[in-house]
Amino acid sequence: TGRRMRPGMSFRPIDPVAKTVDSLSVPDGWRWDPIIRWGDPVLAGAPKFDPSNQSAAAQAMQFGYNNDYTDIITTDRRGREGLLVCNHEYVNPAIMYPPTLSDAEQREISLAAHGFSVVELERPRAGKPWRTKDVRKARRNRRITGQTPFDFDGPAAGSALLRTKGDPTGERALGTLGNCSGGTTPWGTVLSGEENFNGYFRADGTSAEEKRYGLASAPSSYGFETIDPRFDARSGTGYENEPNRFGWIVEIDPHDPHSTPVKHTALGRLKHEGANVILSRSGKAVTYMGDDERFDYLYKFVSSGTYRPGDDRRTREHNKTLLSQGSLYVARFSGNSPAGEIDGTGKLPADGQFDGSGEWVALTNDGRSAVPGMSIEEVLVHTRLAADTVGATKMDRCEDVQPSPQTGKVYVVCTNNTDRGKTGKEGPTEPNPRNANKHGHIVELTELGDQSSTRFAWSLVLVAGDPAAADTYFAGYPKDRVSPISCPDNVAFDSKGDLWIATDGMPSAIGLADGLFRMPLSGAERGHVEQFLAVPQDAETCGPVVHDADGLVFVAVQHPGEEGTWAQQRSYFPDYVSGRAGKGEWKGPRPSIVQVYRS
Ligand code: FEO
Ligand code: CA
Ligand code: CA
Ligand code: CA
Repeated sequence: TGRRMRPGMSFRPIDPVAKTVDSLSVPDGWRWDPIIRWGDPVLAGAPKFDPSNQSAAAQAMQFGYNNDYTDIITTDRRGREGLLVCNHEYVNPAIMYPPTLSDAEQREISLAAHGFSVVELERPRAGKPWRTKDVRKARRNRRITGQTPFDFDGPAAGSALLRTKGDPTGERALGTLGNCSGGTTPWGTVLSGEENFNGYFRADGTSAEEKRYGLASAPSSYGFETIDPRFDARSGTGYENEPNRFGWIVEIDPHDPHSTPVKHTALGRLKHEGANVILSRSGKAVTYMGDDERFDYLYKFVSSGTYRPGDDRRTREHNKTLLSQGSLYVARFSGNSPAGEIDGTGKLPADGQFDGSGEWVALTNDGRSAVPGMSIEEVLVHTRLAADTVGATKMDRCEDVQPSPQTGKVYVVCTNNTDRGKTGKEGPTEPNPRNANKHGHIVELTELGDQSSTRFAWSLVLVAGDPAAADTYFAGYPKDRVSPISCPDNVAFDSKGDLWIATDGMPSAIGLADGLFRMPLSGAERGHVEQFLAVPQDAETCGPVVHDADGLVFVAVQHPGEEGTWAQQRSYFPDYVSGRAGKGEWKGPRPSIVQVYRS
């Protein structure tokens, strides 16, 4: 019998934290612990983490680097067993590797440090903090890396655009890279977006398609093309299409360690931040997705098939096909205030709201192309170019796009866009109203009718920044009572329906440490942003997960000490507390999943 708490959680907000504080700051009366850190064992037989003696084989059995999307899934009725699922977005070689490791060795380890970890958890009873299970008994534990086989499915699977010398079928990819945010589906699988995949390739970079996705001819920043020919996609290599095999939404089934993860072509190829599913009244899987690039777009997918509840208790085989076929849409927003009132300063228009209506424009229709002159394969592989032709709205970098389980309203987190209004770039629009938008904003989108509707209404619920500045807006809540917040990125809902907002970029935008904030969305407290925690030096806040019934909040602390070097580390998180790191042990930073609870 778990400790039952009132829905929602009470805490006294922390004061803003300076960006140089190398600590995890939590409210008075709360404490924190890492659940798992970079290098901790995931698979049986994994060696103990030894930063001076790393190898790709060890890393492939240990927790990967730069944990980003995270969920904690309770798997038994008594709430004593669970799964931690998270993805590992990228690596920071300058602070990870001793100079004794060759470039080639570092790159092999880096490939193994990407992907996913699935880790079994246990606790004495519901309501208590979690700990990792002994890896020898944790049969669902799994590592997915930059080399793990994935199946393509959906209309572009097998397409000539996906075939390479290494895979003439175009049906099987190796690895997942740049996995940023994600979502857990109603059927218990985990989705994740392959975001900045272009940085892993060397390509010609001359075609319109390659340019639109940022593929270039310079050596890649990670240098994987020097250890594996498939990352050299220049003409004549036979791997010209390898970059087309990244930039997808992937689905993994953490309950079945032997399942083959899938790349879903029906959801299009872009710099996917993440994907979040909510069911329509008829049971269609309605999936919201952002393309995280300045002036790129917001997308939605509506499945052709419908959800079967009973399937979740068995194999999930039917529900795992829902993202294989459907219709893909891109968003076109209209503002309802005169264009002259949207002057780029962030000043509210005369009607007192940045708001309006919008429509979802079809790019595919039940697995057929809806774009004249483009085949279904072309629309799905070159989705950005398809969306360019239909007048989609250029957004200020959509990160998480998440429907509220309570209301069905969708929260579109636009992290920032410092190029808005620059010479040669698009100026302010009502849904993206600030020039040189360095603090970001959140759009609240209300589907008109069913979740699968093609019409919506929208308004900005948060225009972030220093609340003392005139260009910020906290849904009308008194600004002298809110915490400063900038660069919103990942979000989560608690059981009450309050939105929890994690940030990425506050140190450079506003001089403060990134953190986690709560913002109620309804009633008198709507817009009352309060800071719950702050992350260590150079880190961004990922996850987050809020289990208020358990009194537990989880965050993925990503890239602590990122600006340092092996010899001159800038963060010792999370082992800097005296006694946690043994004498003589390496004290550099380790990206970690942290749980926060009442002391
Ligand atoms: Fe990986 Fe869009 O942040
Ligand atoms: Ca308006
Ligand atoms: Ca992100
Ligand atoms: Ca970000």
